[in-house]
Amino acid sequence: MTGLSALGQTLHDEHRQTLEVMNALENKILGNTASRPLDPSDNDDRRQLQDLIAVVDRDTGSHFRFEEEVLFPIFDEAGAGDMTQMLIQEHEAIRTLGSQLRLLAEGALENGFDESTWSDFRNAAMDLTASVMFHIQKEEMGLVGRLSFFIDPETDAELSRRHAEYAA
Ligand SMILES: [Fe+2]
Ligand SMILES: [Fe+2]
Repeated sequence: MTGLSALGQTLHDEHRQTLEVMNALENKILGNTASRPLDPSDNDDRRQLQDLIAVVDRDTGSHFRFEEEVLFPIFDEAGAGDMTQMLIQEHEAIRTLGSQLRLLAEGALENGFDESTWSDFRNAAMDLTASVMFHIQKEEMGLVGRLSFFIDPETDAELSRRHAEYAA
């Protein structure tokens, strides 16, 4: 994406990282290997589960909090409160789905999957990937790409500093 502000670029990069993890997850649960559970004794599968947990934690933690506490209020003031209300509702849904999937991933890292937990994991992953992809698409169009119209470069730099504090 071109023409992004510094903050827009940072948020875009976080969204892209999340999408990479969601795409990889979707390939596992929908692709040719969907009937073969991820195997935590395999290094790649183990890393995939760990990456999933890390991205769920980052997104439902610092990323969402920065958006809700710092970014959305700016859009509220500019009259886009309907959009931010919808995005906050999506955050709540993603927090719930994310914590369900996270529990299943943690359990699998400890004990592996059986047929039943793999089926639960796949169902939860389908819901989460769909919700997250839809949400990010909306934010990329509604927020990230429009940031430079809503805030001046000085404010953008200040918010980038605040973002770094959230991410720390
Ligand atoms: Fe969001
Ligand atoms: Fe976001």
